[in-house]
Amino acid sequence: MRSQRFSKAVVGDADVAGKRVLVRADLNVPLSGAGPGRGVGDDTRIRAALPTIQHLREAGAGVIVCSHLGRPDGEWDEDLTMAPVASRLAELLGTAVPVAAGVVGDLVEAVAANLEAGEVLLLENTRFEPGELRNDPRLAEGLAAVADLYVNDAFGAAHRAHASTEGVAHHLPAYAGLLLERELRELGAVLDDPARPLVVAIGGAKITEKVAALERFLAIADQILIGGAMCFSFFRSQGIGTGDSLVEDAGIEIAARVLEVAAAASCTLRLPTDLVIADSFSALAEIQELDQVEVPDGWMGLDIGPRTAAAYADAIKGAATVFWNGPMGAFELAPFASGTRVLAEAVASTAATTVVGGGDSGAALSGLGLADKVDWLSTGGGASLQLIEGRKLPGVEALLDA
Ligand code: 3PG
Repeated sequence: MRSQRFSKAVVGDADVAGKRVLVRADLNVPLSGAGPGRGVGDDTRIRAALPTIQHLREAGAGVIVCSHLGRPDGEWDEDLTMAPVASRLAELLGTAVPVAAGVVGDLVEAVAANLEAGEVLLLENTRFEPGELRNDPRLAEGLAAVADLYVNDAFGAAHRAHASTEGVAHHLPAYAGLLLERELRELGAVLDDPARPLVVAIGGAKITEKVAALERFLAIADQILIGGAMCFSFFRSQGIGTGDSLVEDAGIEIAARVLEVAAAASCTLRLPTDLVIADSFSALAEIQELDQVEVPDGWMGLDIGPRTAAAYADAIKGAATVFWNGPMGAFELAPFASGTRVLAEAVASTAATTVVGGGDSGAALSGLGLADKVDWLSTGGGASLQLIEGRKLPGVEALLDA
């Protein structure tokens, strides 16, 4: 399949001097604290948005940035205003970043119209507008009214056909931002032309969310390493007892199908051979290392075991390209973080080209201080999965062709 990476016009192609540019970034960051003292818990996505914003400022544009934050219900939510994001963005840019009084409307247009070259304005949370999620053309027109050009740099939200990610692109000349372009290039390289062997580690709780990506990788990878609670769908489909482990009902049949496809594929699908189990989902639970994978009743599997972790780390060491998406266990609880840590350390230290999908695996890498040790850490969890599945990203499709 042809990747979407080079088919769209990029911001560097646009003449932006003296113009106002609306940049859709994905500044949907975790927040820390509460009330007026709220801050940004992890600024990775804000940092990732800087190159496009700086490029536009240096090229003489007035920059109007917009993003969603969290999932407000189409109305104002004091806890999800963009104020903490604006403060961090201002610190990182070294310039003032005022927050507009809303997302669209006369007041916002008036402030945007007065923006000087190099100045930055942040619109309020786009999901405060009820039209955002339903891609209301009136909201898209309202957004378009603040600028002369549109740049989509929100890879993490490019799988959403919302007014600020898709609709607005039909009302202004629409370009890909530098981050969006890089994400498509890095993920596209894994899919289209990976150095071999290509080893893919897939974890997480739900096989239903990853099945399409698994099927795609079965066709292109040399090895797939399975971890996370999704392994219990595989075990159940093989008639192996899973005790009280998390098993998706719909996942068992899916797992059986994936195993069938895997048996006929040249790719090797590997499942854990040992587990860490506990008597409850708690850091204070009673814990055992299980030297096989049949989980007794009253117990649940919460991490891959040390033998599996070491074997997966070895596979990663022997790879030329590694793609990783999803934790190997309940890594948010310290006693069950070991499998994810061993995998993260292997990914961080291998000489292979390493690409990590966003979401939880990105959070795990950042938490271990290893985020800068991989070749590419995607800012988009859902978006990178959708890309891998071979599905079109609406936020990319709507941009001008190159
Ligand atoms: C993300 O955090 O994955 C993106 O910002 C998209 O957010 P959403 O899942 O709320 O659309």
